[in-house]
Order: sequence, then structure tokens, then C-alpha cells
Amino acid sequence: MIRTEPLDAPLGSLASGWDPGAPLSDDDLATLRQALADRLVVVLRGQRECDAEELAALAHQLGEPFPADELYNIPTETPEVLAVSNELNDDGHEIGTAGSGPLPWHTDYAFLDTIARESLLNAQRVPSDGGADTSFCDMYTAYETLPDHLSKKLAGRTGRYTITSENNTRLRQNHHDEDPAAAAARRMQANPDIIYPGSGEVVEHPVEMPHPDTGRVALYVSSFSCGFDGIDDPEEAFALTQAAMDHAIVPEHTYTHRWRQGDVVIFDTVGTVHRREMPHNPGPRSLRQLSIKYP
Ligand SMILES: [Fe+2]
Repeated sequence: MIRTEPLDAPLGSLASGWDPGAPLSDDDLATLRQALADRLVVVLRGQRECDAEELAALAHQLGEPFPADELYNIPTETPEVLAVSNELNDDGHEIGTAGSGPLPWHTDYAFLDTIARESLLNAQRVPSDGGADTSFCDMYTAYETLPDHLSKKLAGRTGRYTITSENNTRLRQNHHDEDPAAAAARRMQANPDIIYPGSGEVVEHPVEMPHPDTGRVALYVSSFSCGFDGIDDPEEAFALTQAAMDHAIVPEHTYTHRWRQGDVVIFDTVGTVHRREMPHNPGPRSLRQLSIKYP
């Protein structure tokens, strides 16, 4: 039986008692859904290490997973499981996506017409200190506490999103101070076979994004934001995104997760943005990622 307790943070819940080898009972599924609704991030810890098939089975109980194999054009353990890894193949390229550097604040698949509702990350292989932390920020509370001047600008607004935007690059730079030479060396290791879905495309979503189950409204802006309907000046749009992010990303809304091997973290990716912090250990780090479609 799964039990949860709040983490000592503004969001996040620690769950024990998951059996990777068995389907979730109705009670356990309800417990996880409630913890997600209440705490947005659920850390399953203490179970034996799971495999890709067991993770995929868990994801299917939560909803309809994205087909990672079709979306990214790389070999996957199962169709649903995307490798996020800094480990290198025989050609000297990373075997997975987004392998080794810091990542900016984002919501998964915001750059597609169908966004993700939840994502799962599993520490398949990480250094003893986790390698790089992942932070999560509560965008429901961010929305509910918007100051009037931002609320008025964002109310009813349609946002534009892309995986390949100048804003993305600028927001990355604003949030991380990565050494340029190290970043360049890291980019040389990127896997050239990976085709990132949505590259070169712009999609639209409401900036006030409701969770499909709870109806709670999140502030849906991130480093994938690239503009707004009705705001033609790109600098004005960027400034609005930056102001919204600056309001949202504060310690009172944030939890930073230090990975332990075997952890499975399930999180609401409508109502949180997340990022990878600057790695503190360059050792082999492979996470499995699965995402559930917004219905
Ligand atoms: Fe992500």
C-alpha cells in the first residue's frame, strides 16, 4: 500500500510502498492522484529499482503516454520511455536527449499541440550525489498570487510556444551561468540523430491553463514561451514572459530534488515548471522520462 507524506518544502510529497512488479490498486492510484493534486510532485522512493516495462505500466495507469520512440527518432527501451542521459555511445555522442548541461525552466511538451499533463522521471543510473538536481516550481500559486499589473496583461491571453526560440535562449542565459567553453564542448556531444519534436514550429495555448482534472488554473509560461496573441512587439512579449517568470520562480514556490538511484518522480507538468540545475558531478547520469498526454 502506498503512503505519502509532505516533503519539507512548499510542494512535493514522499511516497513509499510502491511495488513496481504489480499494478496499482484503485486505492493506490487514488492516493497518487490526491498527492499530485495537493503537492504537485510525488517522489516514489525506497522500492526496488524498476525497469522500463514497469515504468511504462505505471504510466499507462495514469493516462495515455506519449510515444517517445516516434517523437525523438532514437532507440528506446519501450515505446514510452525516453532516455535522458549524458552517457556516450561508441561515436562519442550522448545516448539520450538533453544529456549533460543545465536545462531552463519548462513544462514538458508545451511546444506541441498536445501538451503533457504529468511526467515521470526515473533515476536509472546516477552518481551517489545525484549528479544534477531537478527543481520544480508551483505555477498554480504563481498564478493565484500574480500582482494586478501582470494579471491584467495575462488574463484571457493566448500564449505562443516553441522549442526553438530566441526567447528560450535568452531565458536559459538568464537562469544559468554556464561557462561558455564548457557549454560548447557539451553541445559537441549532443546526439545528431535525435530529432526534437516541434522543431521550427509555433503552437498556441492559453496562458491561464486549467488542469483537466482539478480545474485549478496554472500560469503557463516558461522558457518555451515565444510570444502572446495581441502583443506584436517581441521585446514587450519577452519582458512580459520574464516578469511572469520572475514573479513565479521564488523559493516560496519551489522544491529542489536531489536524486537517488531508483527514485521515480511523478509531477504535474501543467501546474509546475521544472529545470535541471547546473550539474555538480559529471559522472554517468541516465534518467528515464515518460510523459502523459493532456486529455
Ligand atoms: Fe522536462
